[in-house]
Amino acid sequence: MDSSKTSRRDVLFSAAASALIGVAARAASPAPVAATAPADAAGAFALPPLPYADNALDPVISAHTIGFHYGKHHKAYVDNLNKAVAGTPFADMGLSQIITSTYGKADQTALYNNAAQAWNHTFYWNSLRKGGGGEPPAALRQKIEADFGSVENCKKELAAAAAGQFGSGWAWLVQDGGKLLVTKTANADSPLIKGQRPLLTIDVWEHAYYLDYQNLRASYVAAVLDKLINWGFAADNLG
Ligand SMILES: [Fe+2]
Repeated sequence: MDSSKTSRRDVLFSAAASALIGVAARAASPAPVAATAPADAAGAFALPPLPYADNALDPVISAHTIGFHYGKHHKAYVDNLNKAVAGTPFADMGLSQIITSTYGKADQTALYNNAAQAWNHTFYWNSLRKGGGGEPPAALRQKIEADFGSVENCKKELAAAAAGQFGSGWAWLVQDGGKLLVTKTANADSPLIKGQRPLLTIDVWEHAYYLDYQNLRASYVAAVLDKLINWGFAADNLG
């Protein structure tokens, strides 16, 4: 990985969030000097380290699940992204620019899907923490109460979005203009393509929960919301 290039990348949403987000942080915007640099070779995008040990989320999410989800699925998205981007003009872009530049383009579907999944997964790991759940920080709680009535209602909307996503996808808390919204996306899709600002996400692809919960997606989502959701990360991402 070209660390000098990475150092020129702009941050994503906030310094704190960017520090956590790792490779997603380099995705914010094109580096102003990168256009004159050689295209990244394969391996230009790194799989960022998990922000915790692989057993930190146990028993809500087991180390077994993390081993496959992070070590196999997330890694595969990053590896495939690097293959798809090598030697193309997209090699000089950050992840979020690749996502918004390739969305809806039939000849760029593989690149879009792998870039979006690389971004989404890094964001997901940071949306969870050991000992999470509980009450959001005051600034976020006030916004949640203004837009949802209560934290409990916000959690209910997130749970409903997660349960209501038919097939694979993601449930999100986003900021859209000045307002907080819960939304869901299918497959690899990201709120970035709608101009929304993600605050946190829950992965509802079966690979996120099947080893621990089998088909009981609602049980996985309820446990994540009560015990793992990282409200502090969401607060850091507020615009
Ligand atoms: Fe996933």
